[in-house]
Amino acid sequence: MKIVNSWNDFDPLKRVIVGRADNCCISPSEPASEAKVPLDSPMRGMTGPRPLDTVEKANAQLDNLAKVLEDHGVIVDRPEPLQFNQAVVTPFFMTGSQFGCMPPRDVLLTIGSDIICASMSFRSRFFEHYCYHKNLREYFEKDPEFRWFYGPRPQLSDESYDMHYWDDVDGHEVTEEILLERTANLEMVTKEHEILFDAADVMRLGKDLFIQKGLTTNWKAMEWLRRMYPDFRVHSLNFPGDPYPIHIDATFVPLRPGLIINNPHRRLPKEQRAIFEANDWEIVDAAMPAHEEPPELCYSSVWLSMNCLVLDHNTVIVEASETAQLEQMDKLGMNVIPVPFRDAYPFGGGLHCATADVYREGECQDYFPNQVEDPTLITYADKRW
Ligand code: ALA
Repeated sequence: MKIVNSWNDFDPLKRVIVGRADNCCISPSEPASEAKVPLDSPMRGMTGPRPLDTVEKANAQLDNLAKVLEDHGVIVDRPEPLQFNQAVVTPFFMTGSQFGCMPPRDVLLTIGSDIICASMSFRSRFFEHYCYHKNLREYFEKDPEFRWFYGPRPQLSDESYDMHYWDDVDGHEVTEEILLERTANLEMVTKEHEILFDAADVMRLGKDLFIQKGLTTNWKAMEWLRRMYPDFRVHSLNFPGDPYPIHIDATFVPLRPGLIINNPHRRLPKEQRAIFEANDWEIVDAAMPAHEEPPELCYSSVWLSMNCLVLDHNTVIVEASETAQLEQMDKLGMNVIPVPFRDAYPFGGGLHCATADVYREGECQDYFPNQVEDPTLITYADKRW
């Protein structure tokens, strides 16, 4: 029985993993994760299990999402939460607690009949892949073509990070202005010491993988994926304007073949657009978020408004309070299913983050047959790392 098959984010969705909020913790600060807590956030300095009432509210919305999906004929699998309020100790580091299993999108990268557990840069998330072992074992037992991989397990010692990334030149805390400059210059907290990536930095479009170079994914990871998939083209994208470039799915989101919405505060630079333009892909500005602030104790920005889950080329799930985004989807010719989800945001993101593809109908296609001079293309000769 074929269980795992997904080459993109828009072909008809038939099976998916939806995360859970149980036992989720605010993890102690560590070199990589400081980045995810904005400078002015009240979460700075807080650690430990999240308040139970917020867990219950998040789980209610996650369960509702699972039900909506099932009502649309999608099989839904769920992870097994760990007791995340335990330290992670390895020969190379220790940190006081783990994180959670709300956003499977960060951990699991599905490419065709393969699922790769990502080489993540957060120490608190080092064991998170175990939450999905039950699912992956089931797929392995039932689907003879399913291949279960791990990205190289990173050491995550201090060598992997720029340990002074959060200091400014005088040893004071860095400002958002400086962060914007650093990320635009592709200077990130994660160095090129070892292979590091989150699966949510990878946008899959058939034979092309477009990967955000940001705080959670480095070029070595792109080179690793290029070697793993020699018939694919691997591209490195970056989006100036984001002081915390973590995960591509609130920035650059494909809706169907030929159409992408792009965060208007984080536009893809002109030279990186060549490959899309040469192949008649339209990149449109996403609608503005309905909210001025993310919910309390949330790692992400208000741009979770565009973090939608596409069910097929004509159908998309959008967060129910995002009025402008709902309207834009409608104008773009999509049937829109509004689903309330803001209570789940603090646990690791929006509707796309909260899910991981298992099966979408369709084959691996080449959406970019016209090759042009493409500065995004990863080659060994360039050796950016
Ligand atoms: N890092 C993404 C954002 O907050 C999810 O916009």
